[in-house]
Amino acid sequence: MRIAIVGATGAVGRNMVAVLENTELTVDELHLFASERSAGQRLSFRGVELPVEKLAEDVFARGYDYVLFSAGSDVAKHFAPIAAHYSNLVIDNSSAFRMDPAIPLVVPEINGHLLRGYRGIVANPNCSTIQMLLALYRIHDRYQLSEIFVSTYQSVSGAGYKGISEYEQQLGGVYEPRVFVKQIAHNVIPLIGDLRDDISQEEWKMINETRKILNSRALNVYPTTVRVPVRIGHSEAIIARTLFPIMSKADLIETISSGENVVVTEDIVTPVDVAGNDLTYVCRIRLFDAHTFGAWVVADNLRVGAATNAVRILLKHLSLNLSRNQVMQSC
Ligand SMILES: NC(=O)c1ccc[n+]([C@@H]2O[C@H](COP(=O)([O-])OP(=O)(O)OC[C@H]3O[C@@H](n4cnc5c(N)ncnc54)[C@H](OP(=O)(O)O)[C@@H]3O)[C@@H](O)[C@H]2O)c1
Repeated sequence: MRIAIVGATGAVGRNMVAVLENTELTVDELHLFASERSAGQRLSFRGVELPVEKLAEDVFARGYDYVLFSAGSDVAKHFAPIAAHYSNLVIDNSSAFRMDPAIPLVVPEINGHLLRGYRGIVANPNCSTIQMLLALYRIHDRYQLSEIFVSTYQSVSGAGYKGISEYEQQLGGVYEPRVFVKQIAHNVIPLIGDLRDDISQEEWKMINETRKILNSRALNVYPTTVRVPVRIGHSEAIIARTLFPIMSKADLIETISSGENVVVTEDIVTPVDVAGNDLTYVCRIRLFDAHTFGAWVVADNLRVGAATNAVRILLKHLSLNLSRNQVMQSC
């Protein structure tokens, strides 16, 4: 199996390397790409130091089975179609293709079936959307969600390595907001991305991507997205309403727990508890009335919200599109 990662030196890209390392995939060749800034760096993969190469149009002609992009929308728009021409599947983490009707937007546990027989570009959803839907998709299957009110508490790593570095500088007493619109250390900022019609870019993503992934245009999502001074791990306070009455709190808990890669717990779960983890945690479940419930959802945004979802797309695509024998040879 030949795999390439574009944006390998980024906050998500480094996690892609780490998540891939821990799969059982036989990776015959892994090629790492970034901008000129990082070309020549080396990253470790399964005990081997791999060089980071400068991204160029002609690198994809080498032929990769899977190309994972995590280098932002501009890079994806230019290079992903070229990569897709030469590769089996291109998985892009940016928002460039997410709302393109011809491109699947995939959380494998929820709509991984879209990968059967598919070749081309697949979009990885926004980090806050992924963990929210992993917590809620079984409820949607069983009781049909009608409204979701969600407030997010998003870590600085959601803004990439520059976001982490600005946060660390501010912890050290240097307050020069560049990545974030206000001071983030010792503070919270109720704006992520620019405003359009009073709604922020991050909020639009949660509204539109939720509808696309759940294939439900009637579902109303009311998000408030907030940046908080946490290094890794997004949290969400969710209040949701269903069309059909929920049988009991026990059934609510059992239904959420039945989600793949979802853990329901009575413990209080916080971002520091989940950093480096590949599961979505749900606690503080409350049934307010037969149609209304609340939950607190936490996950590692760099992994569950990005790298792990991308690698799960790769694995799902592989398992759906190879015969059993071929999968065994590849794993
Ligand atoms: N952070 C999250 O929680 C998260 C979650 C979901 C999705 N995403 C999305 O994933 C993507 C990456 O996010 P990130 O947080 O990892 O960002 P990041 O830390 O800023 O990393 C960006 C990566 O892209 C590379 N890059 C930038 N410009 C490039 C160019 N012209 N050619 C080649 N490589 C280039 C950078 O290489 P250099 O080292 O050379 O600068 C770096 O490896 C973004 O689209 C983001 O929206 C992020």
